[in-house]
Amino acid sequence: MIYFGCDYYPEQWAQWLPEGEARWATDARQMAEAGFNVVRLAEFAWALLEPAPGQFDFGWLERAVEALAKEGIETVLGTPTPTPPPWLLAAHPDIMQVTTDGRRQGQGTRRAGCANHPAYQERSRILCAALAERFAANPNVIGWQTDNEFGCHDSAICACDNCARAFRSWLQRKFGTLEALNRAWGTAFWGEVYTDWAQIPVPNRSVADRNPGHALDYQRFSSDSWAAFHNAQIAILRATCPDQFVTHNLMGFFIQLDYYDIAAGLDFVSWDNYHHHGATPATIAAAHDHMWGVLRRNFWVIEQQVGHTNWDPYNATPAPDTLRLKSWQGIAHGADGMLYFRWRQALAGSEQYTMGLLDAAGRKTAMYAEAAQIGSELKALAPLLEGTSPQADVAILLDYDSRWALALQPHNHLLHHQPAGDFVNPSPALAVDRDERRELQPMVGRAHLLWPFAAPYVALWERNVTTAIVSPKSDLSKYKIVIAPFLNVVTPAVAANLHAYVEGGGTLIVGPRAGFKDEHNRIFAQPQPGPLAGLTGSTVRLIDSLEPERTNVLRWSQLPHTHRTEIGLWAEVLEPDAAQNCTPIAYYSTGWYANQPAITQRITPSGGRVIHVGCLGGPILYDNLLGWLLPLLNVEELQAPVAGVEVAARTAADGRRVVFIINHSNQAHSLTLGRPLVDLLTEQRHERSLHLRPRQVVVYAEAPQG
Ligand code: GAL
Repeated sequence: MIYFGCDYYPEQWAQWLPEGEARWATDARQMAEAGFNVVRLAEFAWALLEPAPGQFDFGWLERAVEALAKEGIETVLGTPTPTPPPWLLAAHPDIMQVTTDGRRQGQGTRRAGCANHPAYQERSRILCAALAERFAANPNVIGWQTDNEFGCHDSAICACDNCARAFRSWLQRKFGTLEALNRAWGTAFWGEVYTDWAQIPVPNRSVADRNPGHALDYQRFSSDSWAAFHNAQIAILRATCPDQFVTHNLMGFFIQLDYYDIAAGLDFVSWDNYHHHGATPATIAAAHDHMWGVLRRNFWVIEQQVGHTNWDPYNATPAPDTLRLKSWQGIAHGADGMLYFRWRQALAGSEQYTMGLLDAAGRKTAMYAEAAQIGSELKALAPLLEGTSPQADVAILLDYDSRWALALQPHNHLLHHQPAGDFVNPSPALAVDRDERRELQPMVGRAHLLWPFAAPYVALWERNVTTAIVSPKSDLSKYKIVIAPFLNVVTPAVAANLHAYVEGGGTLIVGPRAGFKDEHNRIFAQPQPGPLAGLTGSTVRLIDSLEPERTNVLRWSQLPHTHRTEIGLWAEVLEPDAAQNCTPIAYYSTGWYANQPAITQRITPSGGRVIHVGCLGGPILYDNLLGWLLPLLNVEELQAPVAGVEVAARTAADGRRVVFIINHSNQAHSLTLGRPLVDLLTEQRHERSLHLRPRQVVVYAEAPQG
């Protein structure tokens, strides 16, 4: 079943409209007319559900659930903990977070509570338990969304006194002794040796960069704090509501929390798909694939942007058909739930300028019509999608320790991080030369650490290769190719996992800055890539962080066909060890390290293959490698690349699959077909070629192959 619906705030409409709660029936009817079968409610409604300590008012929420159920719409309930009510903050003003420059956050908004504040934790648990008890047996409530977007608004990190105490206990549990901590952080540098746990500071104003071990552990501690806050809620819901699912809305490539930990206790991941300025179909596809990869199972898009938002630099209104393209794209990448944010544009509150399916006046927008079209299409297609999921032969590894370590010490300022987690090309050197890639050109001031990560993804996406984005700790054995574009921190467990993968005959591509740092964020005392050197058969002789105007061009050897490949921002000169069967496959062509190896390849005795990419390239670099490797390793490209057209598939256990062709572009295209297909959306049969209208979606089914 595909869950299809919207995010709805019945309490707001009851307050804002003269007809009050009577409006709910109209809303529910219009939702049902669009084919909705689910809504999410109440994730910010703490003050209305518990107007005074221990005094609960759940009646209105029950009535709202009931009004929706009358139209056949089921409910996902939010635990409304991102918005501690004013009475709680009045009693405990220190629930508000303290920023790393020492200022307490102001009240009157959301998300700024400290995960380590005992009263916030306690009152959250009491509220969750009461809600769980009241709604566990409600037949119209199918599941829960915990809280809302942990970490949003840069709220993952707090530096208050409660956090300081909790951090010191966390460190004691981790290190046991101060001696171990001092060694791990290398505190002999700048004479930071701690002799009492109470001396260890939380991040605060500092004249120079902090100790990277300390800073990385604070990031981990902060992520763990939210995971613990989260797990307390999950435990309550599991104990009381065993028949209802539990999910949380993640934020794609958000960097501040380790999503593998945050999501560990959920039934499935949900996420909020907003098209940040600079987002492209490829980067959105990547975010879906990461959300799939967090638990390696299908997910929900529990907030799909429908119109303009209120927080982007420009807040453009999406062009007609955008909602339909984005919805089908999400489903193609493994979404089993698609909910639109929000039902109706708000009359009050800070998000008045966020457009809904209805506008503020209650008129149906063009997006409502698109939603209704998708609703009727889904009715027909949902049974076919049952039991299907994207099946990837290629995995890209995304590792939070590495992201944090690189964000702490980018070494090239164009690789700084953006909290929102956008992909933006930081350098013209990494620009790419195909028309459809122009949209990936740099935007002033928004360079991003994710770009190096995007490069291999975009190359795979353009070739219509199904790709999973997963943890380096996950089971990699089923993948034909594993790419670790930016694996800066390598723990013993990750090193062992990659060794086992290559030992099993896998093909591993390791990107720049791999294996520079150990688990304590110290540089390895052996040559880079540290514990991966035994795999790559090559080591890093020197690194060069390039200014944007100084670029280099690769000279390839061995590969059958290559495009001109410009690289920038980062270059490592590699030393291949011939004794380990490692040879260069690309060299720098200019500058003082011209003719030195930039990329090497090693074939291992077990038949594994390790490619070590020492430089930062755009999609072209990876396209060169993939053009050679994909056929060699028998990796399927669902369709030959056509600019702006995405082809993705969901496959069932028996090999049956549903294929989605999405023309994101404003041009018509013609695709050559390997075999005839019937478009399930129009029931039209196409024999040898498919003429795609601008922004058209085609879906077809394929019987099991072979
Ligand atoms: C999301 C958030 C929603 C709403 C929306 C506005 O990040 O979860 O509650 O704020 O953004 O675009």
